[in-house]
Amino acid sequence: MTTLQERPVPDIITEVPGPKARAHVAYDETWTSPSLPRAYPIVPVRGLGCKLEDIDGNVFLDFAAGIAVNSTGHSHPAVVAAIQEQAGLLQHMSASDFYLPIYARAAEQLARIAPMKGKTRVFIGNSGAEVVEAGLKLARHHTKRQNVIAFLGAFHGRTMGAVSLTGSKAKYHAGFGPLLPGVYHVPFSLEGLDEIEQRIFKRLMPANEFAAIIVEPIQGEGGYVVPDATFLARLRALCDKHGILLIADEVQSGAGRTGKMWAIQHWDVEPDILLTAKGIGSGMPIGAMIAKESVMTWGPGAHGSTYGGNPVACAALLETIKLLEGGLMANAEVRGRQIMDGLRPLVDRFPGLVRDVRGKGLMIGIQFDSGDTADAVQMAAFNRGLLVLEAGDDCVRMSPPLVVTEDEAETAMRIFT
Ligand SMILES: Cc1ncc(COP(=O)(O)O)c(C=O)c1O
Repeated sequence: MTTLQERPVPDIITEVPGPKARAHVAYDETWTSPSLPRAYPIVPVRGLGCKLEDIDGNVFLDFAAGIAVNSTGHSHPAVVAAIQEQAGLLQHMSASDFYLPIYARAAEQLARIAPMKGKTRVFIGNSGAEVVEAGLKLARHHTKRQNVIAFLGAFHGRTMGAVSLTGSKAKYHAGFGPLLPGVYHVPFSLEGLDEIEQRIFKRLMPANEFAAIIVEPIQGEGGYVVPDATFLARLRALCDKHGILLIADEVQSGAGRTGKMWAIQHWDVEPDILLTAKGIGSGMPIGAMIAKESVMTWGPGAHGSTYGGNPVACAALLETIKLLEGGLMANAEVRGRQIMDGLRPLVDRFPGLVRDVRGKGLMIGIQFDSGDTADAVQMAAFNRGLLVLEAGDDCVRMSPPLVVTEDEAETAMRIFT
């Protein structure tokens, strides 16, 4: 069998989707939940770096990375080795009930890279949504307050609390009510901050009834929206003024993707609680809540998780942090600049059609005139061997693995353009 290393990228050898992919889609759709929001019919079976091979042997250039997850690329040899070694030693012992050495090491490393100055503590879960729930529970438990503010356009996950905080698409809420009470949404803008003070605190619920404000420092699913330069500092000041905790959901924007470990560091703002998942485990199911020690005041039994911080997932996380700090974060910054510089001219070249090119590092959003255009671009890219993913109402996002090379970035831009 030819190795992926030897194949060019993209290398499309059948119609797309190919015959095996079409047959597999039919099989899958017989058995799986119809709720799954599949973007297009890619049926991946093998990956290496930014290359993803489908069931028909087509090789795609992956600029979606499993929704910004494969930070170190597909099957990075160091991550694979760490996973294999740990799987051979110990696959599971619940860290909630016992003292698992690698869990504490993962917590220590996460605390070390936290964007807070003082001592922090860490809870490890299995996914983004699970740590969003943890953040919500901790904020309520610590402040003894119930209400929470989130932003329109935000995505925080699918579990009941996380989906209640989500404000990106109405269909995520449809049929699931009543949602968590006490969740207020405002626009992700300076006007939204005014609304918190003027509308919510004055007319709807006083500030001292709010436990937390949860924010994605750069909105992900909302369309890779970078806030105004003063937004996060003003949000921090607002939280400080009213004793409200600031929760940074860095599930998508974190883990080095923007060229810094956490997107919030671009604005020198410290959250009280930081949530991470996706890229921090290179694709293994792991998420973490990092909180200031002064905030993590709950006692034994208040929270836990059977699989959270599974040793194999922790091994992947530890190796991922090493790789991010060992060069991938720096690469994200350089390649991000290359892609941004390459794509920005599209706004002038296709006036009215391409509305904006924005982002930080390898979190790049291209906004079109409509959702239909964004969908058509996503599909056209797929047909030509480039994987990107729509986001927001009218955007396409690029979130390649952080191992992306200069040549791969050029290839992606050529196809996309
Ligand atoms: C910012 C953000 N928070 C939370 C989540 C939920 O993560 P998970 O799908 O791992 O539950 C996502 C997933 O896309 C996300 O982008």
